[in-house]
Amino acid sequence: MAAAKRKKILAGNWKMHGTLADARALARGLAERVGKLEDREVVLGPPFTALAAVLEAVKGTRITVAAQNMHWEEKGAFTGEVSPLMLRDLGVQQVILGHSERREIFGESDEWIQKKVASALAHDLAVILCVGETLAQRDAGETLKVVSGQVEAALRGLGAEAKGRLTVAYEPVWAIGTGRVATREQAQEAHAEIRACLKGLGLPADEIRILYGGSVKPDNVDGLMAEPDIDGALVGGASLEVESFTRIVEYRA
Ligand code: PGA
Repeated sequence: MAAAKRKKILAGNWKMHGTLADARALARGLAERVGKLEDREVVLGPPFTALAAVLEAVKGTRITVAAQNMHWEEKGAFTGEVSPLMLRDLGVQQVILGHSERREIFGESDEWIQKKVASALAHDLAVILCVGETLAQRDAGETLKVVSGQVEAALRGLGAEAKGRLTVAYEPVWAIGTGRVATREQAQEAHAEIRACLKGLGLPADEIRILYGGSVKPDNVDGLMAEPDIDGALVGGASLEVESFTRIVEYRA
């Protein structure tokens, strides 16, 4: 499948931001501005507490909603966790897994992330799997090795269930929340490596969307989206305002 055939995804990761009123206002504003677009997918990732309100606010539009994390088990004594069944019950369609903040701050291992990915897909939740190197790893020339290692560890054993429901987000840790965006060339190089790695795993690499994340803003999105292996963006800070996220969704490449 040619690059142009992969439908682009513009996803907002709201992280731990916003009251219910904030979430409703943001989701309603975006529903109005970009809720009808058919040529690209718009995904909103509010915190757990706002999932229901955001689902309600985007009802009747083409926008879909993602959780930012989940446990792999369906239920049990796991204080503070949320299960795939609970997300499905709410009407959530997808989940962001393996974000570097989960890996680095909360100690999520490759093994946990692999279990989460397998469980989400088994429960019919689409997955946005995040991978990315730290600055020290980049400086040591280990970027491609780290990124492909994370992809392989998380997707081990996956087969046909990934089809149409797996997205990978390349998010260099040094670019997240820093204002220091990867160059288009750096991003394209990592994306091409990820695609080769997906192919090596026997997955339909040409159909899987690979998003770039890390300081995506209205003023740099167009250049990034022009690269052949960049199929969208996972956006933190700039997804928290209707104007800036609308401009990102309406990128011009
Ligand atoms: P940022 O976050 O756009 O604020 O850098 C991206 C992310 O962490 O997904």
